[in-house]
Amino acid sequence: MAMAATALPLLGLRITAGPLELRGITDDLIMPLAGLAAAGVHDPGLMPFSTPWSLTPPPEMPRTIAQYHWGRRAGFSAAAWTADLAVFHEGELVGSQGIATRDYLVTRTGETGSWLGRSHQGKGIGTAMRQVICAFAFDFLEAATITSAAFTDNPASLAVSRKCGYAANGLEPAARSGKRATLQRLVLEPAGLIRYPRELTVAGLGEFRRSIGLGPGPGSLL
Ligand SMILES: CC(C)(COP(=O)(O)OP(=O)(O)OC[C@H]1O[C@@H](n2cnc3c(N)ncnc32)[C@H](O)[C@@H]1OP(=O)(O)O)[C@@H](O)C(=O)NCCC(=O)NCCS
Repeated sequence: MAMAATALPLLGLRITAGPLELRGITDDLIMPLAGLAAAGVHDPGLMPFSTPWSLTPPPEMPRTIAQYHWGRRAGFSAAAWTADLAVFHEGELVGSQGIATRDYLVTRTGETGSWLGRSHQGKGIGTAMRQVICAFAFDFLEAATITSAAFTDNPASLAVSRKCGYAANGLEPAARSGKRATLQRLVLEPAGLIRYPRELTVAGLGEFRRSIGLGPGPGSLL
């Protein structure tokens, strides 16, 4: 295994399901991800994120993307970890899908978050990659619940949550670009997941499980 993935097994994680591959964000993926984000993630008139990183001017996007991922790597521990993965569809980089946790060994809960380059949106990829990360968390990491949240004026994200089986879990006021906005909170349990119809294959699972404080897993030879 490469040195970086030995130090941080997240970087060696690879989840494949049919045409989708979710892969740890190694340094060689940072510039391609920055290029994708700089080309546009959403209509500039609508902000889907609490932190408006997606409107970073293109020349500064590589640093924004790099500092975000380096920060998450630097703070990775069993007590609080984020697994942001690069998403490839039929071999092409299309966006990112993540799950963020705190006290996972106690709560068995993580919160999903994602984005796609605009040219890749509206083709079902956002639903598929969310189904894949949820199946990964439930089936391979023994998650008990998964949460998500979207601003009430983000119909695409809310539709993806609905299509994956998440249930509404209350409204919450939140700051967005210095103004008050409303977040729809969402929750999903294993029985509620509407599954992606392809089997998941995971590489680097044993190392990743150990890095978040889980044992090798029932019956696992990985
Ligand atoms: C949210 C996002 C990841 C969804 O990915 P996607 O590939 O576009 O989603 P899908 O194609 O799988 O599904 C989108 C669904 O939203 C629906 N949708 C999209 N725009 C809509 C609108 N304006 N009104 C109602 N429904 C809408 C689509 O009809 C589709 O549902 P359907 O298949 O039942 O018709 C992607 O749009 C994105 O990256 N958006 C910008 C970043 C973002 O919002 N991230 C999430 C932050 S919470």
